[in-house]
Amino acid sequence: MSKILVTGGTGFIGSHTVAELIEAGHTVVIIDNLSNSEEHVLKGIEQITGKRPIFYKADCANANDLSRIFGEHPDIEAVIHFAAFKAVKESIDKPLGYYQNNLLSIITLLQVMQKTKVNRLVFSSSCTIYGEKAPLPLSETLPMTPTTSPYGRTKQMCEEIIADYVAANNQFYSISLRYFNPIGAHPSGKIGELPLGTPNNLIPYITQTAAGVREELKVFGNDYQTPDGTALRDYIDVVDLSKAHVKAVDRLVNGNSSTQLEAYNLGAGKGISVKEIIETFEKVNAVKIKWSFAPRRQGDLPSIFADASKAKRELNWEAKTVLGESLRNAWHWEQKYRKLNK
Ligand code: UFG
Repeated sequence: MSKILVTGGTGFIGSHTVAELIEAGHTVVIIDNLSNSEEHVLKGIEQITGKRPIFYKADCANANDLSRIFGEHPDIEAVIHFAAFKAVKESIDKPLGYYQNNLLSIITLLQVMQKTKVNRLVFSSSCTIYGEKAPLPLSETLPMTPTTSPYGRTKQMCEEIIADYVAANNQFYSISLRYFNPIGAHPSGKIGELPLGTPNNLIPYITQTAAGVREELKVFGNDYQTPDGTALRDYIDVVDLSKAHVKAVDRLVNGNSSTQLEAYNLGAGKGISVKEIIETFEKVNAVKIKWSFAPRRQGDLPSIFADASKAKRELNWEAKTVLGESLRNAWHWEQKYRKLNK
């Protein structure tokens, strides 16, 4: 079992991955600056796993802090790098902040990893790197093409920076995991998605509308070339997604990677419309969502879904949780968090 450093470990995907790593027997050190998460997440992880991860409130772009933390844990075997800004629309409004945060973090992290000879990295990437014109389903064999947002470009650039570093260091192995749309929450209801402020993503907006925190959900666009006119996305359960990280880390640490640089799509392989999401949410949770149509959101694509067969073949990973269960878990989490029925 290994000691794994997880940046962004109190965030949505980070916290679920930390729980899975601990359940799998690994020791976890978290670095998070809490810019979009809260420290009480650690308590939720402890309640699930019986262990509290080691936690540092620190910024990955701060080389001094990172060096000190790596120095205190000379036995770190691999890093999972989640810490990043992640909202497509926000990145269009605040491009410089996105480039500064997402690029400085990866560069600083790689520099400190180089100095401390930590040579295994799992990078949190996104399906957005394939770009606007890529043919569906998206497969890892496709090249990166121009994407719709500064956020997407930071993910492309990060993958390129990692590739350049891999080319310069024959001891370094990296896996990029390209997420589609992560949703849901831990079935225990102890951890879940908790965006600070107004949510950008669909599911937290829905759960907050159901909880009465938001007045009404706006469905962005009703005139896409899709069966019901609303956009199609490939929704993937966050616990399923987290398990893929454990498999990726194990592959790297056990020396099972055949190449130094790999990328895997993590999706369910199915396009689901915004309207289908609302209908399924209402049905499985027996609640009504107030919603209406609004214009298309800048930067959104009509349809995105994965060919996730490579992850199945090489990581022995596939999506298992059905949509209704993810949406039930998301609502369970929101209710517990808002103390609506407990
Ligand atoms: N949507 C709404 N109303 C909302 C929020 C979202 O109708 O209030 C719609 C969007 O227009 C889109 C779908 O719900 O059609 C999903 O939107 P999200 O914001 O939840 O997710 P995105 O598909 O925009 O973004 C996700 C990830 C990004 C990633 C991107 C790639 O969050 O990290 O997919 O497309 F880059």
